[in-house]
Amino acid sequence: MLVCNLSRREPCADLGENSARPVRHFPCDLARPERIAAAAGEVLAALAAEAPAGRVLLVNNGGVGGFGSFPAPSAGRQLEIVDVNVRAVVDLTARLLPCLRRRGGAIINVASVVAYLPTPFCATYGASKAFLLNWSHALGEELRGSGVRVLALSPGTTRTGFFEGTGATRPEAIAVQGMAPDDVVAGALRALAAGRASFVPGIGNRLAAAAAAWLPRSAAARLARGAMERRVPPPS
Ligand SMILES: NC(=O)c1ccc[n+]([C@@H]2O[C@H](COP(=O)([O-])OP(=O)(O)OC[C@H]3O[C@@H](n4cnc5c(N)ncnc54)[C@H](OP(=O)(O)O)[C@@H]3O)[C@@H](O)[C@H]2O)c1
Repeated sequence: MLVCNLSRREPCADLGENSARPVRHFPCDLARPERIAAAAGEVLAALAAEAPAGRVLLVNNGGVGGFGSFPAPSAGRQLEIVDVNVRAVVDLTARLLPCLRRRGGAIINVASVVAYLPTPFCATYGASKAFLLNWSHALGEELRGSGVRVLALSPGTTRTGFFEGTGATRPEAIAVQGMAPDDVVAGALRALAAGRASFVPGIGNRLAAAAAAWLPRSAAARLARGAMERRVPPPS
């Protein structure tokens, strides 16, 4: 098995039982299309040279958030959300899909439970994840029978550094309420093995997603406003 990581910083990878497996880091700013093209080529070359056979799992995990009254925290951040959460995922998947089709495998797109409803005060982030959720379902259907499966993973709050630098108030206090990342990953891998198209980790998050799907969008937006307002600084 070969693990290829595309991000700006080298990860401190703890692969547990797979720790003997080689991890290759390809420095890549996903907001820069020319870097994505180059990094995708480097990954395909590494796969061909170092792991020429076997299935391929593509995990589109990189993502950024932004909280505040639009366009806060900044117009630049809003565009970065679109570039990293949407554009880069489409670009990278298009570049790697021929290899996945040839060898078989799967794609996990990391969306969010906020994909299920309009999210005031993180409108662009929520919409970027709604894109991923719908796009994953559609792509999975297109690829049915091709040997490539697609899973939309929609976590709720998870204990990572995600909220830092997003404009959210007290980011560390938000994260601490979340699920453990290992539990999210374990659930996602079980869902993929079970052939699921979509997975929301955690019973509370599943209930929230199901309720949001039943509500009229305007009512869901109003409810989400109440939850999100607590996470953003008061208007100046
Ligand atoms: N934590 C939560 O509560 C939560 C909830 C729902 C969904 N999610 C989603 O889960 C995914 C992982 O986030 P996380 O919780 O693990 O947060 P995180 O610790 O902030 O990780 C974000 C990841 O995205 C990468 N990334 C961000 N901007 C990038 C860029 N321009 N180019 C390349 N890589 C970039 C980061 O790597 P570098 O900084 O090294 O580039 C890092 O690996 C995201 O898609 C997020 O939207 C998180």
